[in-house]
Amino acid sequence: MIDSKTKFGHFDNDNYEYVITDPFTPSPWINYLGNDGFHGLISNTAGGYTFFRDPKFRRLTRYRYNNVPVDTGGRYFYISDGDDAWSLAGRPMDTVLDKYECRHGMGYSRFLSRKNDVEAKATCFVPLNTTAEVYMVSLENTGAKSKQLSMFSFLEWCLWNAEDDATNFQRNLSTGEVEISESTLFHKTEFRERRNHYAFYHVNHELSGFDTCRDSFLGPYRGMHNPLVVETGKSNNSHAHGFSPIASHHLKVDLAPGEKTSFVFVMGYCELANDEKWARPGVINKKPAEALIHRFDTTEKAQAALDDLHRYWQDLLGKCVVKTPDSAFDTSINIWNQYQNMVTFNLSRSASFYESGIGRGMGFRDSNQDTIGFTHMVPNKVRERILDLSATQKPDGSAFHQYQPLTKKGNANIGGNFNDDPMWLVLSTCNYIKETGDYAILDELVPFNNDETDSGTHFEHLHRAFNHVVNNLGPHGLPLIGRADWNDCLNLNCFSTDPNESFQTTQRGASDIAESLMIAGQFVLYGEEFAVLCDKTGHSELALTCRAHTDKMREAINTHGWDGEWFLRAYDARGNKVGSNDNQEGKIFIESQGFCVMAGVGTDNGRAKKAMDSVAEHLVTDYGIMLQQPAFSGYDKYLGEISSYPPGYKENAGIFCHNNPWIIISEAMLHNPDRSLAYFSKLCPTYLQDKQALRRSEPYVYSQMVAGADSAVPGQAKNSWLTGTASWSYYAAVQYILGIRPDYDGLRISPCVPAEWQEINVKRTFRGARYDIDIVNDVSDASVGDDHTGECNTSNTSDSTKPCVTASRISIVVDGNALIGNLIPFAEFSGDHKVVVTLTK
Ligand code: BGC
Ligand code: NOJ
Repeated sequence: MIDSKTKFGHFDNDNYEYVITDPFTPSPWINYLGNDGFHGLISNTAGGYTFFRDPKFRRLTRYRYNNVPVDTGGRYFYISDGDDAWSLAGRPMDTVLDKYECRHGMGYSRFLSRKNDVEAKATCFVPLNTTAEVYMVSLENTGAKSKQLSMFSFLEWCLWNAEDDATNFQRNLSTGEVEISESTLFHKTEFRERRNHYAFYHVNHELSGFDTCRDSFLGPYRGMHNPLVVETGKSNNSHAHGFSPIASHHLKVDLAPGEKTSFVFVMGYCELANDEKWARPGVINKKPAEALIHRFDTTEKAQAALDDLHRYWQDLLGKCVVKTPDSAFDTSINIWNQYQNMVTFNLSRSASFYESGIGRGMGFRDSNQDTIGFTHMVPNKVRERILDLSATQKPDGSAFHQYQPLTKKGNANIGGNFNDDPMWLVLSTCNYIKETGDYAILDELVPFNNDETDSGTHFEHLHRAFNHVVNNLGPHGLPLIGRADWNDCLNLNCFSTDPNESFQTTQRGASDIAESLMIAGQFVLYGEEFAVLCDKTGHSELALTCRAHTDKMREAINTHGWDGEWFLRAYDARGNKVGSNDNQEGKIFIESQGFCVMAGVGTDNGRAKKAMDSVAEHLVTDYGIMLQQPAFSGYDKYLGEISSYPPGYKENAGIFCHNNPWIIISEAMLHNPDRSLAYFSKLCPTYLQDKQALRRSEPYVYSQMVAGADSAVPGQAKNSWLTGTASWSYYAAVQYILGIRPDYDGLRISPCVPAEWQEINVKRTFRGARYDIDIVNDVSDASVGDDHTGECNTSNTSDSTKPCVTASRISIVVDGNALIGNLIPFAEFSGDHKVVVTLTK
């Protein structure tokens, strides 16, 4: 399955773009358009779809997952020149182009093709604050002869509910309705009844024809690769009544040698008040559409909107800019990782080319974690997200595992009982306050379970999250796992032998025995964070109580959670060990090593170091760190879905990238810069450009999973884009490798960088001040494991009691004044500041 070709694209960092030079990438390499509720997924050949807020309930354009050929359906432009015809973006027509290029940028994608002396360009984007995709298209005659061309646009409407659209044909083949008004083709299915929204597709040019009926456009038994209308060169002016409504404009384009012409297409979505839906009986009110169209009805206006979008991204990415001796690191941190953080924050795990947009809503644990790489970019959105999540929390502190983006209500079909969920709210909140200083979020009154009659402060929600762990301990004093913890596939209370049953939602028995060491570490880490927050907010009594609980948990981990060489993973429903050297398979797991060490468990007695050495010995591969070893060779109902995967894939000993940064952070906390960066560079896609063909998925973003050593093709990546790997990798790289770490009272500086990185610069905007930080690394031999304690505190919270393990001394000069300690207190600064950090042995 490995393509003979090895390279399909490269970075253009000056333009913040990834340039794809072959339409036939190993899998579709996509981009996302839109930031604020109106979203498009767009592949390197313009495939994909568009939705408003909810990819299940407001799907505008149709997309068939698992289609053949893969990635068929999108915003297509067919160009016909006499007997020749081709696709502007390289597909779906098979015609070989003289030149093809796709440039995925920040919130837009550009396509360029050349064929028969015609240079065609399309720039697709969602303007800021707009419920529309805009496509700026130009055709230029670069030859010596005049050209009589036709261009046909094409997209297929989805009948709004993406799940129903793909299943309920007996109804849906009769419901489709359109209206045609000059150059605008409207899609209004179900507008007569319960919907108050329609969509439209417009071009700022007079039409030579149109089609709204798919069968008419494609012709009998044809596909999008060879539409009949493109072949005959003439639209049919078809009017869809039921079946599959589409929108296709026909534009005749005569071009003299050297002549160029431009069009602006707008595919938009409008919602109307109930009493304003109709212009007259049977005719929709087109005013909102006209207003939207008016904003982009010239190339100049569209270009101005695109310029705004560029500025928006430049500003966002400008908040943290790093310069290290390692360009792969910089490309990731300065551009693509932050971009992916925005996408994962917006969409959680709902809509990608691997997530169908109908299955999952916004995950509670995922959405909380997604904030940690994004808070510095748009803190207000994070505030809103945290409070939305908080409002789905149940009165007992437990969480709905997901909520629906349209209603923002907890998803009752999935339910809860994933016992790691509650404490992620502490992570997102503390991280948010450290970035912004906005303690007021804690005083917001937030309902429990979206019930306005039962509310508490957000602080109270955090307290209940904490107590949920305290109230759900098992026989060893460790947290009960419930349906699963972070590892959704470690289903210790499921015992399923029925293939039609969901591993995710099935739970048998009281589940009062199976315990998780991952949650134990998580509880110590974020429980202590909560205690610090209590101190900061005048709840010192509560802080003491909380610390008593986290101390007890540390003790429980040390007494019942240490296996000799590493931390255990769990106790199953029969009280047996999981992740122990005593097991035949699944002897060592990554999650409990990461969480216990990040929590500082075992830093005082050598266990943390030992656990990391065991990870290095048993789990590290050339392509990243595997989830566990040895892989499970067969299904075990006491373990659940994890053992249902073939060895080396997904949670069964795949490299489940999301958890690799936990080890990167752990190593940084133990001050092993070389290991930390080595793990990072195996994981981070910007380092892996020579592995494009092997990996298959987009080489500019993280994938959820890379096949592990036991798999058929180790190193092959799947499930790109929507993964917690994005935010965690960014967090690990910036806050732990570079050590630029927001804290309650200022910006903490605590780098853990390899000796070869002698000069680093970081420009960071933080609470209104701009810091220009030079890090000069004079540690000539920063040897691994050199444990002497320096002046600085490299622990993860300002007030933490965790021992500081650092190999280097740090001195910091701010605007010419030597700083005591490593915290730049923001209160003393605003405006621009020069910081010089010197690391010495
Ligand atoms: C996957 C997990 C995922 C879960 C969510 C499982 O099939 O393996 O990675 O978290 O589904 O529903
Ligand atoms: C993907 C899910 O989105 C996430 O919530 C989970 O933690 C991981 N899979 C591991 O199972």
